[in-house]
Amino acid sequence: MLEEKKNRDGFGSKLGVIAAAAGSAIGLGNIYRFPCELGENGGAAFLLVYLAVVLILGVPVMLSELVLGRNSQSNAVGAFKKLAPKTAWPIVGYMGVLCGFLILAFYSTVSGWTLEYIMKSVTNDFAGKDLKTIEQGFSDFHNMGWRNVMWQGVFLLLTAFVVYKGVQKGIEKYTKILMPMLLIILIVLGVRSATLPGAADGLRFLFNPDFSKLTGEVVISALGQGFFSLSMGMGVLITYGSYVNKNDRLASTALSVTLADTFVAILAGIVIFPAAFSFGIKPSAGMGLVFNTLPMIFDSMAGGYVICIVFFVLLAIAALTSTISLLEVIVAYISEEFHISREKATVIGALATFALGIFASLSLVQDTPFMLGGKTLFDSLDFVSSTILLPLGGLLIVIFVGWKFGKKSFLDELTNEGTIKSPLRNVIFFIVKYLAPLAIMVIFVSGFMS
Ligand code: TRP
Repeated sequence: MLEEKKNRDGFGSKLGVIAAAAGSAIGLGNIYRFPCELGENGGAAFLLVYLAVVLILGVPVMLSELVLGRNSQSNAVGAFKKLAPKTAWPIVGYMGVLCGFLILAFYSTVSGWTLEYIMKSVTNDFAGKDLKTIEQGFSDFHNMGWRNVMWQGVFLLLTAFVVYKGVQKGIEKYTKILMPMLLIILIVLGVRSATLPGAADGLRFLFNPDFSKLTGEVVISALGQGFFSLSMGMGVLITYGSYVNKNDRLASTALSVTLADTFVAILAGIVIFPAAFSFGIKPSAGMGLVFNTLPMIFDSMAGGYVICIVFFVLLAIAALTSTISLLEVIVAYISEEFHISREKATVIGALATFALGIFASLSLVQDTPFMLGGKTLFDSLDFVSSTILLPLGGLLIVIFVGWKFGKKSFLDELTNEGTIKSPLRNVIFFIVKYLAPLAIMVIFVSGFMS
């Protein structure tokens, strides 16, 4: 047993932990989904609710996961088996692995698009085209189901390559290179966009709240987006937490990751909205914003050819560090619970995801047969995982930590057996035990009634 512990792979440095966890958090959710949600939910009002959700609920929920992982030294399922043997709690872990599988199946579809769009920008495919023509190109691409599937496969292969290599030699090594690259690219793009003529309108939309836009639906969307963006509610952070050194400070890790994630989401907004407004594009243009509007805008900008390539490389990097974390949850579960090697588990996990993912990709083709509950399989996977399973998982995790795992165990793990003295520790536990479950429940239930 002792030996097994010694041999367990783990992060080599504190920076590695933050790079990996921030890499998981920062993804398409920030650069693509956040601006879409913000655009559809009235702009700055959404941003405000989002900030409240993330800071008040995000950090404590994230800590709950990290604590469970580091304390149990196990994957998402194993953690509950160890901490609550002979109970039904491991179901929460199974739900998490399932949810990760469902997310990865559709997330890898969109990730694949980033590769197609890197190619398109390299071959200067957008040059001189108007928005209509570019949009037509986007839907033509969707209709090429197998081309989507091919890119999705390539993307999953890249993901599997990193996960296959292990925590320290794979995940940590690559996220430590990729995350700084991402930040630099994003800042350069942000400055470019915010200095375009007419950019002020976009910034106003992003930062000037119109409270009449504040509805229950906006709050629900902000909650769903917050959980999704921070990779919470399905055991990514339990799994990563299990690789964190016993001397690291979990609270400062959680805070760094949350702030980095939120910073990048806002920065993505600063890249997208000023550019959109400057060219008279409606901010609620949804996903077309990223794949259609931006290429057109870049094309008409000085240096746009390079900027466009760089933007899609950024998108691909952001996606990759997130797909890595999703696959890692599945791989850690398979390899630890079934006692097989990481390498084998990676192959199994990636192939299984690809098998479902193919149908998610093919469900975007016109007149697709792959519909579920009145939606495309792609949309259904997104809905079930991010609107239902993630908040539900998050809810059960905080209930577990607050009411079953208990205050003493939580604070011992959080404070490294009492060596860190933080005045906030009681507040954090209070939020985990009472406020977070209540808030998640209220928002969740009201979402279903509206
Ligand atoms: N957080 C990532 C993003 O913003 C996506 C993601 C990775 C994720 N792992 C997750 C979402 C786990 C929910 C749960 O794009």
